[in-house]
Amino acid sequence: MNSDDFLELLSTARSVRRYSPEPIPDEDLAKILYAGSRAPSGTNRQPFRFVVLRDGPRARRARRLLGESFRRGWARKTAEEGWNTGSAADPNSPKSRVNRAIQHYVDHFERIPAVIIACYVRYRPLTHSEGASVFPACQNLFLMARALGYGACYSGWHHAVSDELREILEIPDNVELSLTITIGKPLGRHGPLRRRPIRDTVFDDGWEQGAEWISDPPDARLSKRR
Ligand SMILES: Cc1cc2nc3c(=O)[nH]c(=O)nc-3n(C[C@H](O)[C@H](O)[C@H](O)COP(=O)(O)O)c2cc1C
Repeated sequence: MNSDDFLELLSTARSVRRYSPEPIPDEDLAKILYAGSRAPSGTNRQPFRFVVLRDGPRARRARRLLGESFRRGWARKTAEEGWNTGSAADPNSPKSRVNRAIQHYVDHFERIPAVIIACYVRYRPLTHSEGASVFPACQNLFLMARALGYGACYSGWHHAVSDELREILEIPDNVELSLTITIGKPLGRHGPLRRRPIRDTVFDDGWEQGAEWISDPPDARLSKRR
C-alpha cells in the first residue's frame, strides 16, 4: 500500500453506527485484534486488554446492560446539548443526520455483531496520561476494521454501568474500562471524515504560530469550527 492509499483509508474511517447484524468471522476479528495488539505503549508494558462481547452467556448479559446504558447516555446528551432542537428540525441538516444515526445506534445496540471493551491494567498509581497507552491500540484496531471493510465506533457510555460490567465479566478492580468499541459491516457506505482546517490544529514554533508549510488537500472535507 502506498502512502496515498493509506491516507485514503484513514480519511474514510468515519464512525459507523449502523451495522448489518451478520456475525464477524473469527478470522477477521482475530486480525482486527492482532492489529490492536501491535500498538506502542509506555516502556512497552502493553497494559491494554480487550474483552470481546459477542453471544456468550456473559456477553449477552453485558450487552443488554450496555444497551440500556447507551440509550440513557444518549438521552441525557440529547437533553443537555439540544441534539433535537434548532437545525435538527431540518431532516437534511448534519445535526439531524447525526442525531438519527446515534438514535439508531443505541436502539439497535444489542444487535451489533461485536462489542469490545478496551481496558487498561493499572500498574502504578493514577497518572494524568493513563489512556495514552490504550488509545493507540484502539485506533490500530479501528483502522484494521476499516481495512477489512468493517465499520466501528467508540463510546464512553459504558462508564455509567462499569461496576455491573466488572461483576458480570469478572474484571478486577485494578483494571480501568477505558473505551467501548463496536464493530460490524456498515449498512451504509464508508465516507470521508470532516475535520477542522489543518492550520487550526498544527502550530510551528509556538502556540498558535501559523505553520505555513501545511495545507489541506483540495478534496479534504472541513468541519465547522466550534
Ligand atoms: C473518546 C471517544 C469517545 C466517543 N464517544 C462516543 C459516544 O459515546 N457515542 C457516539 O455515538 N460516538 C462517540 N464517539 C465518536 C465521535 O463522536 C466521532 O469520532 C466524532 O464525532 C467524529 O466523527 P467521525 O468519527 O465520523 O469522523 C467517540 C469518539 C471518541 C474518540
